[in-house]
Amino acid sequence: MGDHRVGLAPFEGRVDDRELPVEGTVPPWLDGRLLRNGPGRFHAGDREVNHWFDGFALLRAFDIDDGAVRYSARFLGSEAFEHASREGDLAFMEFGTNPDHGLLRRLYQVARGRFTDNASVTITRIGGEFAAVTETPRSVVFDPETLAARRTHTFADDLAVTWSLAHTHYDFDHEQAVGLGVDLGRESRYRVYCRPKGATRRAEIGSVAVDRPSYMHSFALTTDHVVLTEHPFDTTPLQMARGKPFVENFSWRPAAGTRFLVLDRETGALVAERRVDPFFTFHHANAFTDDGAVVIDLVAFDDASVVTDLYLDELRRPDARPHGGELRRYCVPLDGGPIERERLHAGPFEFPMVDYRRRAGRKHRYVWGAGSEADRPRGFLDCLRKVDTERGETAATWTDPDTFPGEPVFVGRPGRNAEDDGVLLSVALDAAAERSVLLVLDASDLTERARAPLPEVLPMGFHGQFFTGDGVPTPSMA
Ligand code: CO
Repeated sequence: MGDHRVGLAPFEGRVDDRELPVEGTVPPWLDGRLLRNGPGRFHAGDREVNHWFDGFALLRAFDIDDGAVRYSARFLGSEAFEHASREGDLAFMEFGTNPDHGLLRRLYQVARGRFTDNASVTITRIGGEFAAVTETPRSVVFDPETLAARRTHTFADDLAVTWSLAHTHYDFDHEQAVGLGVDLGRESRYRVYCRPKGATRRAEIGSVAVDRPSYMHSFALTTDHVVLTEHPFDTTPLQMARGKPFVENFSWRPAAGTRFLVLDRETGALVAERRVDPFFTFHHANAFTDDGAVVIDLVAFDDASVVTDLYLDELRRPDARPHGGELRRYCVPLDGGPIERERLHAGPFEFPMVDYRRRAGRKHRYVWGAGSEADRPRGFLDCLRKVDTERGETAATWTDPDTFPGEPVFVGRPGRNAEDDGVLLSVALDAAAERSVLLVLDASDLTERARAPLPEVLPMGFHGQFFTGDGVPTPSMA
């Protein structure tokens, strides 16, 4: 019988538009395409990569129409993947693994902007096309029907950034994406940018000078502000010049604390800079302004050790612990008053999700996410939860033996009134049956509406988005 480690086995071949059996009933209003991303193979020839984030991107698509589910999976045809398949080694520095070629060539590559295009984190749209993205300046545009790569994409604009966050926001009111990049240099800066729908150029909203840029994986957006959560897992240009794999250049300096940097979206001005006790975060659930304070919900870890826990050697231990933090709320008064901190869920909790289409940047009540319920949890996160932030309690939990669900994507029912009227879509690993399954849960009580088992295992993935027929995204998370 398999355990969580079958979710790290390499995927072979590709799948084109295969119809899946459906148990239960998919709501008839659910019509669109769930596009997901995540690593699917962890070697180049005989060479194993070190970190979960180094795996080669495998695109996964689920078409849902009239109660039926069809699925496709295909490795992202990045330059990094094509080179590895052809030559059996790495072409570029990855998140936690270096290629075999020497330091000088690595530094030359970085100086020339030859970063990896192994874009395995999530999916976004650039200029009307679909793109797989990661944290380097290079993404890969692909055909949404066949999942075939069209080209590697680099923005041809004036925004000076060394790396940028894969997690961007989409503002439905202003029809624009908002993103964050880090410009590493003699004077390093965080640069917040916007990109109107359909545009291929980014424009700077504002920037903040920083001595030691932090490894930030996401940020928060309200209707009026951009909120950067700058934890003290940071680096310097000098450290970066040592030629180590990307993440090895960062160090945890708890004495510095974690800083909230709040920028005005209109003027770009820094309107608040507040320090709290140190914590690390990958993911924000949402943020909003309430009574003169910015309220930020995020998943907090005590320190950055989760980054090391995600090395493949650690994950492949039979007794590997599931990774998640505390779902936490910070209220940061803009007038300088005391910051309040509230525990919404003790954790482990990850992949926090709100009704993004309606609630992004606005007050929300519910946060969904993956959690762990077992007495002695092993492997990946093993349940899905709905947290009621108003009552400060878990409102519902979904679980199934030996099953490890991935990120839950909320899709609201068209015409809904209630915030939780919709479904959660999650691709789960059924480790006992050694196959993956697409779950369709009722978002209000987490009862199972339908499941579509796959004939094989899809390696555990990261993030995705649901696109309705008209191409409007339902971003999976902040
Ligand atoms: Co992420």
